[in-house]
Amino acid sequence: MSTQLTPILTKFWDHPQSWTLATYEREGGYRALRSALEREPDDLVQELKDSGLRGRGGAGFPTGMKWGFLPPHDGGPRYLVVNADESEPGTCKDIPLMMAAPHFLIEGSIITSFAIGSDKAFIYLRGEVAHVYRRLLQAVQEAYDAGYLGKDVLGTGYDLDIVVHAGAGAYICGEETALLDSLEGRRGQPRLKPPFPAVAGLYSRPTVVNNAESIASVPVIVDRGAEWFSDMGTEKSNGFGIFSLSGHVKHPGQYEAPLGITLRELLDMAGGMRDPDKKLKFWTPGGSSTPIFTDEHLDVPLDFESVAAHGSMLGTRALQIFDETVSVVRAVSRWNDFYMHESCGKCTPCREGTYWMAQILHRLEDGKGTRTDIDLLVDICDNILGRAFCALGDGATSPITSAVQYFREEFEAGCHTAASELFPPAASTLFRKEQNPMVTA
Ligand SMILES: Cc1cc2nc3c(=O)[nH]c(=O)nc-3n(C[C@H](O)[C@H](O)[C@H](O)COP(=O)(O)O)c2cc1C
Ligand code: SF4
Repeated sequence: MSTQLTPILTKFWDHPQSWTLATYEREGGYRALRSALEREPDDLVQELKDSGLRGRGGAGFPTGMKWGFLPPHDGGPRYLVVNADESEPGTCKDIPLMMAAPHFLIEGSIITSFAIGSDKAFIYLRGEVAHVYRRLLQAVQEAYDAGYLGKDVLGTGYDLDIVVHAGAGAYICGEETALLDSLEGRRGQPRLKPPFPAVAGLYSRPTVVNNAESIASVPVIVDRGAEWFSDMGTEKSNGFGIFSLSGHVKHPGQYEAPLGITLRELLDMAGGMRDPDKKLKFWTPGGSSTPIFTDEHLDVPLDFESVAAHGSMLGTRALQIFDETVSVVRAVSRWNDFYMHESCGKCTPCREGTYWMAQILHRLEDGKGTRTDIDLLVDICDNILGRAFCALGDGATSPITSAVQYFREEFEAGCHTAASELFPPAASTLFRKEQNPMVTA
């Protein structure tokens, strides 16, 4: 395992005008597209399979294999849908990537569309990020003007249009089938699977849905080869990824590194804890829907297998760092408020369960918990996990059960003492909505 950073997608984010086509081309951009268009589409799918790239949107499904699931052409349309909804607390890699260097995603979308035989691709973007929406629209226009998009791409006879769609800002619309419903103009709620999108996706046609970082990684794999990519990372978690460090760390930001790097190594590169006198208390390896880790896990290799072997998930590599001044009860209570708010209401365990958990967590946070609250909380989690219609419900339970596992005494203290008394410095950052003086409506 390497301890070096591998700035590839992040390589020129600090250059002036990093987002323009001219900068991207100067850095070798669209070279991969030219070579891809001279190859057979199946050959590109095989290259991706050989690279071992696994989906960067959370679940880690092999990207090339997903492309290979599309049924043979039947003469009808097939689609690429890029999932750029990025709405989970702590997850913040796709939005800076699209803001700083959008052409990685656009070139990746063109190569992928060509490989799967699609002539229409959609980029579904989180609605709130109007600045990123504008930037993507501008970059797509640049690509059209340069002949990389539209009719007869680079004179090869291949046609492709890209539509950038801004959602209305719902976390559930990042779930791939809810995203497809939303894109079709319906209320975004997950679909029953099977059929999977590869068979019946957008408008019931074969569709590949991939995360923005997954697709942005495609050009460099095509340009430098599957072996170059698979030589990085660990045996089963190949390549590099963007690790987003946030919270109580001296230099928060995006650290692009081979999978398998550890938090200890990343923290070293990020200047350590924000206050060096404060100890690391807990952290999320993959965003707020993954079981938390503690300082025991500083040396766990951040690859899919090792993180799972230690009881969590690599997810979106959103490393939120909390020091000892933070109440874990308050932190998981805030996350649960988010899941309760974002629950789409389609299934009972998640719709009702997140609401019940909020009642209990607020009591514990206020020092008004009852003797049975902690067991009841864990019991509700058990009844949601594996019984919810989609992974939002499961994800809501992960931080709670893991927090009780590692910090049960803090939940027990919630039966008599408010979290704000036990952890006053963090109070200002973890207000409940109704307690927050900054929220006026
Ligand atoms: C509630 C929920 C929200 C999700 N949000 C996102 C998201 O914002 N971006 C994303 O790529 N995947 C998200 N996913 C995962 C997608 O369903 C899907 O697995 C992913 O887009 C596949 O892309 P990949 O194979 O390239 O990782 C979410 C899943 C759930 C259950
Ligand atoms: S788990 Fe939650 S978000 Fe998912 S379908 Fe059920 S209610 Fe909707």
